[in-house]
Amino acid sequence: MTTTPSYKNGLDVPRIRADFPILKREVKPGVPLVYLDSAATSQKPTPVIETLDRYYREYNANIHRGIHKLAEEATAAYEEARDKIRRFVNAKSAREIIYTRNTTEAINLVALSWGRANIGKDDVIVLTEMEHHSNLVPWQMLAAEKGARLEFIPVTDGGELDLAALDRLLELKPKLVSFTHVSNVLGTINPVAEIAAKARQISAVVLVDGAQSVPHMPVDVQALGVDFYAFSGHKMCGPTGIGVLYGRQALLEAMPPHYGGGDMIKRVYLREFKPNELPYKFEAGTPAIAEAIGLGAAVDYLKSVSLAAIQAHEKEIIAYALERLEEVPGVKVYGPPAEKRGGVAAFTFDGTHPHDVAQVLDADGIAVRAGHHCAMPLHDRFDLVATARASFYLYNTTGEVDKLVEGLYKVKKLFG
Ligand SMILES: Cc1ncc(COP(=O)(O)O)c(C=O)c1O
Repeated sequence: MTTTPSYKNGLDVPRIRADFPILKREVKPGVPLVYLDSAATSQKPTPVIETLDRYYREYNANIHRGIHKLAEEATAAYEEARDKIRRFVNAKSAREIIYTRNTTEAINLVALSWGRANIGKDDVIVLTEMEHHSNLVPWQMLAAEKGARLEFIPVTDGGELDLAALDRLLELKPKLVSFTHVSNVLGTINPVAEIAAKARQISAVVLVDGAQSVPHMPVDVQALGVDFYAFSGHKMCGPTGIGVLYGRQALLEAMPPHYGGGDMIKRVYLREFKPNELPYKFEAGTPAIAEAIGLGAAVDYLKSVSLAAIQAHEKEIIAYALERLEEVPGVKVYGPPAEKRGGVAAFTFDGTHPHDVAQVLDADGIAVRAGHHCAMPLHDRFDLVATARASFYLYNTTGEVDKLVEGLYKVKKLFG
């Protein structure tokens, strides 16, 4: 019997857990929630919930257009949150922070605007085999529209990008290299700065899907040397319905707006319009005001805990989880060793369907995800239809890993 180690990284997990009201929940009487699905969406701490509540109770108003007290307060909070996010990822200017609904919309924005203006027939776009559908399908749509070519950096058996293949692909002079920072299935942390530096040498534009990185580790878009970086609020303790596209100002300035409507214009005539300045050019219509302000509160919260400490904590948890999962006969975890991955473990369990695994675990209050995790081509790569996935965050404990493992032994008993 393995014993639960004490944490070495200094994160006060019991205190953190007390910040998340939902973690006190029992999914049925006497069965506490064991939430191991933060890669899908994270739980929300009290300061974020209270920020949303306060907005609606005290200063709900539409932004930018109103000259009254509430509109001024709402506008100030909305823009303050943008600046918090700018500092959080170290963008040079708040103009480079575009609010979107989520990572998916941020990537689609680049495809619809930059892509349509810059990708032509036979142009090459380099992606990887480990992409989430949200960094795949928008490029498939653009490639079909423009007659462009998609090429892919392969994934090794160990779940890492084959960087030797990248060198060959860069000889094709791609216009865009777009890839995930951290795989939502394998947990692989990709060497973003290294790939971006190589892509820059051939003047390719670099987009990084940061959905699984920004919530879990310090991210500095300038140090990484990327052109675009996309992430979602709901995976980083923030509300749903708000995400971010970071874009280098010079690129964003040159891009046409992708949606038309209110707020994205400076002047409208009957037959034409002049687009607004950044970032508003890309924020047509009434935005997710409460959610943006809530995301600002989430950023404050994560900073107060420290991203470096969160990353160290997750490293401990995933190292322990990999060790314990390997003990269970029939469990196969995909992806690299703990030192090369974030807090995600996707696995198969003998012949038991991942949905059955998830259902048995659910009976004990253990929430994991089962399916293709929006990464069907990656599952094809490993000859899989589906996996079960446990994913960890700042509030998870090694005790919860123990519960997962106990649950898997139950699965084994039930399904033989
Ligand atoms: C790596 C990765 N990219 C993109 C997304 C899409 O995020 P959203 O659904 O918030 O747009 C996810 C969500 O699971 C993800 O894990």
